[in-house]
Amino acid sequence: MLSWDDEAATAPRQPQLPTGAAGEEVTADLVAKRVNADDKRIINGKTDVNQLVPFKYKWAWDKYLAGCANHWMPQEVNMQRDIELWKNPNGLTEDERRLVKRNLGFFVTADSLAANNIVLGTYRHITAPECRQYLLRQAFEEAIHTHAYQYIVESLGLDEQEIFNAYNEVKSIRDKDQFLIPFIDTLTDPAFTTGTTESDQTLLKSLIVFACLMEGLFFYVGFTQILALGRQNKMMGAAEQYQYILRDESMHCNFGIDLINTIKLENPQLWTPAFRDEIKALFLQAVELEYAYAEDTMPRGVLGLNATMFKGYLRFIANRRAVQIGLEPLFDQDENPFPWMSEMIDLKKERNFFETRVTEYQTGGALNWD
Ligand SMILES: [Fe+2]
Ligand SMILES: [Fe+2]
Repeated sequence: MLSWDDEAATAPRQPQLPTGAAGEEVTADLVAKRVNADDKRIINGKTDVNQLVPFKYKWAWDKYLAGCANHWMPQEVNMQRDIELWKNPNGLTEDERRLVKRNLGFFVTADSLAANNIVLGTYRHITAPECRQYLLRQAFEEAIHTHAYQYIVESLGLDEQEIFNAYNEVKSIRDKDQFLIPFIDTLTDPAFTTGTTESDQTLLKSLIVFACLMEGLFFYVGFTQILALGRQNKMMGAAEQYQYILRDESMHCNFGIDLINTIKLENPQLWTPAFRDEIKALFLQAVELEYAYAEDTMPRGVLGLNATMFKGYLRFIANRRAVQIGLEPLFDQDENPFPWMSEMIDLKKERNFFETRVTEYQTGGALNWD
């Protein structure tokens, strides 16, 4: 019951101003600049992006730590056996050589596209600093991947001009990149900003194309091919590097999917039926392009692999990506034709598949002062 005599009981309480680093009371307008985790948003956030903490998106920080713990460098992998095999006229068949060159032809430029997309595009549109922290790590990993592909090209003495221009000169590779580039161009356009339903959908669409279709689908024919060579004791050094790249990329893809799903949660108005239809059409188009690339790189079947097996594999992966972002499966394909690929992705704690060294290879672990 209120007592009208007791003024103190009804008067608003003066908030206590905190003491800052200078030992003085912080003024109210400065207190307003302090970040509340609840106010953070993945896109269109208003909180200070220079303050990493307090954390809101702990999953992003955890992925940043995991990425650092998986650090590796290409030149630590021995390429001697690959070089001998490549120089030996009977070491590989013509089809295997074509496969390796077309494979590198896609990858040598793909990770530069990925890095530019992150640094010049995605990064500035993301307003959660813990997500930006992961993107910085991811950008460096893309540089390591480009380094790895360049290192393989150099080790084998391949024609650099031929391989690095494949994305202009080989149709099946050019078509994949032409599909991606408009989505990258949107995010890197200095005039593009988010903040309306339409522009936020444009950003979300580019994020989906990048995580689910580029890193999550366009890389998988190529990864499977080189890892299949490794399983037959061929190109073991290259295969070991692809194994580390696959591990990194599956984390990039999972980070992207977490990012997409959190943007959806924070902005449910973006996920309209028309938008979902547009995304489904992009998935179908990407599967066609990747299948055409599989046919082009393996015109006759090689290593016990053929393009038809990849049709099933691509449908399996596309279904998985669709479900991961909340869409219905797109194809009637429940079976994974390459179950050994899942083992490769989950291989973190096992010994290296190719037994060249221990896989639990981490240089980025915590410091131990004892
Ligand atoms: Fe990469
Ligand atoms: Fe990536």
